[in-house]
Amino acid sequence: MDLQVRLGRLTLPNPVLVASGTFGYAREMQSLVDLARLGGIIPKTVTRQPRAGNPPWRTVETAAGLLNAIGLDNDGVDAFVEHHLPYLASRGAPLIVSVAGKTEQEFVELALCLEGRTGIAAIELNVSCPNVSGGVDFGAVPARCMAVVSKVRQVSSLPIIAKLTPNVARIDEVAQAAADGGADAVSVINTVQGMAVDWRKRKPLLGNVLGGLSGPAIKPIALRCVHQIAQAVRIPIIGIGGISSLDDCMEFLVTGATAIQIGTANYFDPTISMKILDQLPDALASLQARRVADIVGTLRLPTKP
Ligand SMILES: Cc1cc2nc3c(=O)[nH]c(=O)nc-3n(C[C@H](O)[C@H](O)[C@H](O)COP(=O)(O)O)c2cc1C
Repeated sequence: MDLQVRLGRLTLPNPVLVASGTFGYAREMQSLVDLARLGGIIPKTVTRQPRAGNPPWRTVETAAGLLNAIGLDNDGVDAFVEHHLPYLASRGAPLIVSVAGKTEQEFVELALCLEGRTGIAAIELNVSCPNVSGGVDFGAVPARCMAVVSKVRQVSSLPIIAKLTPNVARIDEVAQAAADGGADAVSVINTVQGMAVDWRKRKPLLGNVLGGLSGPAIKPIALRCVHQIAQAVRIPIIGIGGISSLDDCMEFLVTGATAIQIGTANYFDPTISMKILDQLPDALASLQARRVADIVGTLRLPTKP
């Protein structure tokens, strides 16, 4: 069974990736996961300067979900390049580096810091983090999304993936803007904005008050977003949101995702990516598919009267 997938200029050995912020810098997972088998590794988002992140609490469990407000805690791109890149780039799986800037210029500088470095397969632009002040703006306004993608495109020779937020009225319009800006693919979705409250103390549970909801609770929202983009925009989609089983993975593929990322499920089953990879060939064969592409976007929709 040929599991290879193509996302614009990016070719991946298979469609099962691990999502930014949920897999550390991969070192933490090496004893549990055969990293070389992954379709791609996306480490925690890096920023131009180090960021301390938000005050505690930073995570709260909810019904079928996880609420987080980490606030892009990271050591900055220079430390990433020095301490994490050599390890990540030598694992045998495609490395997709996630970056976030507060301004277009910062996104450009981040792309320039990564340009020409060996072992990077693509850049994922996190234009959708709900937990940093202003962090969601680029993904919320189509014109701003297009501008930041095209500015990065001008300075980077790498394939570019725009990671989109579901916290908008029309995600298909933002995806179209990313495509117009020159993105090779879109990742859909980042977390859904939410909140948790301790009524006895009359306090919000998260130090940041608001956070991003992830996990099985958001899968229907993520599927809806993938569907809306697949129907309206000609750009490859990487589906993310609540994927924690082979069935979830297959649902995203037939809805229109060419690949998927596993996020929160890594926390409750760190080997889930390997299990899905083991089961994927049989599931494809059960639909008479010989390649992943044979089933992507093959959802049978009811005919309109
Ligand atoms: C604790 C935590 C930290 C995250 N950090 C990042 C991040 O740094 N960059 C990013 O693009 N997404 C981040 N995400 C979002 C995930 O990559 C993913 O888009 C989201 O959680 C939805 O997928 P899931 O339901 O499978 O977790 C984070 C999610 C969680 C739960």
